Amino acid sequence: LAPAPLSAAGRDTGAPADAASQNGGYLTTAQGVRLPDSDHSLKAGPRGPVLLQDHHLREKIMHFDHERIPERVVHARGAAAHGVFRGYGTATGVSKAAFLQEGVETPVFVRFSTVLGSRGSADTVRDTRGFATKFYTGEGVFDLVGNNIPVFFIQDAIKFPDVVHAAKPHPDREIPQAQSAHDTFWDFVSLHTEATHHTLWNMSDRGIPRSYRMMEGFGVHTFRLVNAEGASTLVKFHWKPKAGVHSLVWEEAQLIAGMDPDFHRRDLADAIEAGSFPEWELGIQTFPDTPEQTFAGIDLLDPTKIVPEELAPVQPIGVLTLNANPTNFFAETEQVAFHPGHLVPGIDVTDDALLAGRLFSYLDTQITRLGGPNFAQIPINRPHAPVNDMLRDGFHQDAVHSGVAPYKPNSLDGGCPFFAGPGEHAFIEHPVPIAAAAKVREAPATFADHFSQPRLFWLSLSPVEREHVIAAYTFELSKVYEQAIKERVLTVLARVDEVLCREVAQGLGLPAPQAPAGAQVEVAPSPALSQVGQRWPA
Ligand code: HEM
Repeated sequence: LAPAPLSAAGRDTGAPADAASQNGGYLTTAQGVRLPDSDHSLKAGPRGPVLLQDHHLREKIMHFDHERIPERVVHARGAAAHGVFRGYGTATGVSKAAFLQEGVETPVFVRFSTVLGSRGSADTVRDTRGFATKFYTGEGVFDLVGNNIPVFFIQDAIKFPDVVHAAKPHPDREIPQAQSAHDTFWDFVSLHTEATHHTLWNMSDRGIPRSYRMMEGFGVHTFRLVNAEGASTLVKFHWKPKAGVHSLVWEEAQLIAGMDPDFHRRDLADAIEAGSFPEWELGIQTFPDTPEQTFAGIDLLDPTKIVPEELAPVQPIGVLTLNANPTNFFAETEQVAFHPGHLVPGIDVTDDALLAGRLFSYLDTQITRLGGPNFAQIPINRPHAPVNDMLRDGFHQDAVHSGVAPYKPNSLDGGCPFFAGPGEHAFIEHPVPIAAAAKVREAPATFADHFSQPRLFWLSLSPVEREHVIAAYTFELSKVYEQAIKERVLTVLARVDEVLCREVAQGLGLPAPQAPAGAQVEVAPSPALSQVGQRWPA
């Protein structure tokens, strides 16, 4: 019997008829055998027992049984979009990265996320938001894996499992989902007071953004840029939304969480579908790469600190436009694998101890989450630059490698592949001198200042923003069972600001503790920090 041609009835899309493209005109088994029926299992008579020989039944159920992969250990709930980044050329003096040159257009994929909730949790909860961008540059993939809050809870990655254990739902009852209203979170942040700054941002309007389209993004850590002459500059990355920074108010956030838990992902997809493409400018604050790695007395290796924009203005270096929705959530949004160590020539890391741990963690977790070491071959993760990595085999190996000598040097495959010579876009780590030092498990003395910057942030807020912060602390702490934890949080707030402490204490019906004499550091408020409702200056 001659098979009907695959182009029958206009059902063939013309692409190769392989299992990945799934474009055959007929329903088939995974082996490409055409099926007459997919609703009835093979039985011994219409009312008889099901037969084990029914391969179609076994294959269909087996595959369904294995459809789920582990959700991300943090940032499990996300939404993403494709777009393009265009360099302004304003960064070429500090970085040789080709994609930052004037007019260069680079495809990107951006995933926004909440941090704590599971994959099915609500979008508008009070939480930090992830803002991760994959640039498919001609020199390889660059990932900027940032958040919508410019600081982090901890200063050293070795504490990351601890802060996440404290912030995730309680191990006994698995509640609450995706909210900071619980004992372990407040226990942690009141005992580890370097978390005060990030927590204050979470309790501000920044913790409940109106839309992913209206959030700032921050690289958080200080990075190092290197120019064509080999000179280095320390930088902090900022994304500034052209639509301005906007937040919900708490009552709206709660109502929306009930009425439309998909609010943020719907908003992003609808805007893009309607042709209203969200845009952000990428900007950098630049600092001289001195051995001290401080700027205006601020330790640039401490990820709990910002550098106020009045001291180091953000200079725009390019623009990002999101212009296409993913066509398949699992293939793209779920399988995308970001990594802060995906760097291109001209962008390098610093010795920030939080960043160092991240450089290990993402690669490590993705081996489990994406089922083996070959996830760079998943279409959404593939570089748009030629690859010849000499990595071989492993689970889910898609490539059929040619050649017999995957090692270098070799005398069998013509010596290929070659090392990049001078001027051939090699990534060369910047040769940073390392001071002679003893091995220690210690932080620098500057890391002990946990309160001056939370105070700076608090003083920079408008009266209504301060009211929101007070209401947020009061609401979240009112859900805490242990009285001692609430009291300890109040002693932390006393060190940030007397009014904040007094108002929250009053809301909780507790006495307000006094701050130790001289505990409140004198700081000048930073108007640029309070940007909710404002647009990026033209
Ligand atoms: C995931 C940001 C600190 C471990 C993510 C994601 C973002 C992010 C945006 C989601 C990526 C996506 O959309 O797929 C940050 C920022 C940090 C930080 C801005 C601090 C400045 C850390 C630290 C660790 C860590 C210190 C561990 C030591 C992870 C892991 C994932 C993740 C394991 C899941 C990755 C995956 O499954 O693909 N982080 N993170 N993060 N982060 Fe972080």
